[in-house]
Amino acid sequence: MKIERFDDLGRGIGYINNKVTFIDKVVPEDIVEVELTKEKKKYNEAKLIKIIKPSPLRIDAKCPYFSKCGGCQFQNITYENTIKYKKEKIVNIFSKHKISIFPEVITNISPYNYRNKITLKVNNYKIGFYINKTHNLVEINKCLLANPAINASIPLIKRFNICNGEVTIRCNQNAEILIVINSQDNLNIDITYLKSKIKLVGIVVNNKTYYGENSLFERMNNLLFKISYDSFFQVNPFIASRLFQIIGDNIDSSDKVLDLYCGVGTLSLMAAKKAQKVLGIEVVPNAIINALFNARVNDLNNTQFVINDASTAISKIKPDFNKIIVDPPRSGLTKNIIDVLLKIKPDAIIYVSCDPQTLVRDFTLLSSIYDIKKSYILDMFSYTYHIETILILTKKT
Ligand SMILES: C[S@@+](CC[C@H](N)C(=O)[O-])C[C@H]1O[C@@H](n2cnc3c(N)ncnc32)[C@H](O)[C@@H]1O
Repeated sequence: MKIERFDDLGRGIGYINNKVTFIDKVVPEDIVEVELTKEKKKYNEAKLIKIIKPSPLRIDAKCPYFSKCGGCQFQNITYENTIKYKKEKIVNIFSKHKISIFPEVITNISPYNYRNKITLKVNNYKIGFYINKTHNLVEINKCLLANPAINASIPLIKRFNICNGEVTIRCNQNAEILIVINSQDNLNIDITYLKSKIKLVGIVVNNKTYYGENSLFERMNNLLFKISYDSFFQVNPFIASRLFQIIGDNIDSSDKVLDLYCGVGTLSLMAAKKAQKVLGIEVVPNAIINALFNARVNDLNNTQFVINDASTAISKIKPDFNKIIVDPPRSGLTKNIIDVLLKIKPDAIIYVSCDPQTLVRDFTLLSSIYDIKKSYILDMFSYTYHIETILILTKKT
């Protein structure tokens, strides 16, 4: 079969007897032999058996695990073509809802070694990533998307005697490492040896500090952030810094800002450098403890942070905010948040999204009152199908 195009999940699309068929790790214009793995009424899934004639767009993937690993989708095309795909994807998703969008695209400084966090599975002493949609593990020694300090830690973690579980490795731009383990096994960790090999800051096992600290510090955009082991932080520091700058550029000195889903207070503090006041809401308690510390250490006293579910909190807050930042998880905004936004009608909404489908769903609901003043695509997750999008929404005149 011939691969026609990519779908929104980065899978190749071809047709067998006119039925749409999805195949991983193929490239548009490849001629391939495939084996059907799932036959449904409306679609098939298939796996690649052989490339009969490679597409002119195809390049060799640098990563030795690429053909099996579910971690990324696009190392077999050029970085420029991944960006072209991402821009077309966003424009198409919006145009299906009859919305024209002209996003500014912010590319990564390097599409490799950018991630400051990876989560690896451990299965029967083997450590790696799952093959897409399975629980079969691809054992790895390194991940080309991860920071080199993270990759230096992987062979060391293999000596910990973990039989089954999950290991998250986080680092900052100084190559300091925080290791977070969830496992019921008896661990064997030689701290002196580890410290001779990596800049180890701490180890957390089953939510308890096992060694050192349970958080990392990161400095970005002239702000210092403390990030606890279970708090969210943007995974790509170069792109995150551009995101923070865009937030800062869209705040004025008279603004009263509400930051929903504020994490450790990154966007709140960027806003607080200019705004009159900022209130951040976040559901993870340690993230709010970090945000309160981060506000103090950066001398931004015009801020308040509250632990709460964003949807519950917005119904209780006095509606004296003229700008609202929202940066929700992939599920997007709740119906209640949309209803309150339509009721209190802030002058502007800055919507930061990691899922364009829920973004367009939510914007469609807001579009009776709001226009898109500016839009951005940020390549936060290079070589994967994921895209970070920002919409700056202003009230219709
Ligand atoms: C995409 S992150 C954004 C964090 C922050 N804006 C940043 O840039 O670092 C989403 C955040 O929403 C938080 N979150 C998830 N569900 C939530 C809810 N129902 N209410 C409040 N916060 C929530 C997560 O813990 C996470 O910190």
